[in-house]
Amino acid sequence: MYTIISGTNRNNSKSLMVAKTIEKMYQEQNVEVNVIDLRDLPQSLFLPESYDKKPDEFQPFIDKVVNAKGLIIVAAEYNGSAPGILKYFIDMLPYPDAFENVGVSFVGLAAGKWAGIRAVEHMQQVFGYRDASIHPKRVFIPNSYGVLSSEDSFKTSDEFKRLNEQTKSFINFCDRLID
Ligand SMILES: Cc1cc2nc3c(=O)[nH]c(=O)nc-3n(C[C@H](O)[C@H](O)[C@H](O)COP(=O)(O)O)c2cc1C
Repeated sequence: MYTIISGTNRNNSKSLMVAKTIEKMYQEQNVEVNVIDLRDLPQSLFLPESYDKKPDEFQPFIDKVVNAKGLIIVAAEYNGSAPGILKYFIDMLPYPDAFENVGVSFVGLAAGKWAGIRAVEHMQQVFGYRDASIHPKRVFIPNSYGVLSSEDSFKTSDEFKRLNEQTKSFINFCDRLID
């Protein structure tokens, strides 16, 4: 099973648009896939007590991560890094079992021309620290307001093609990972 994490809880998020497009690409490859929309996180997760005891409503999110063969992280650039909510979500997942030997693939996006590379590289550091197996084929979407302004402009973009290639390559990569 593959899990795509749409890395923000902002309404009308372009990350979610990208995540849902990628979901279809995985479905076309006949693999099980689901999307985590961080807007769905339970409010109780944001109480200080959550560091010690996770709320029961958070368990389905943990299951989708821990049981995944591969994770796809869609990270927009927020203030030269990834959105804080994405880091908080990671901080709430079980340690150390959440990412060991799990394949992780990255997609970056940003309004600017650096296309989320800072967001992705900060996340690569975190996932690398947590012993994830990092897929080297990353995809970056610059000028998110332009490229992602409509389904049509996205579908005809080079980035869309690269996401399709990344999808096939990541499934192959995860098939080769040793348990
Ligand atoms: C809080 C915040 C900070 C941002 N910081 C940056 C930035 O540092 N560099 C950049 O190029 N774009 C920045 N942006 C623009 C986003 O990267 C861009 O709008 C992207 O499409 C947002 O993804 P989202 O729609 O999933 O939130 C920022 C947007 C927000 C909301």
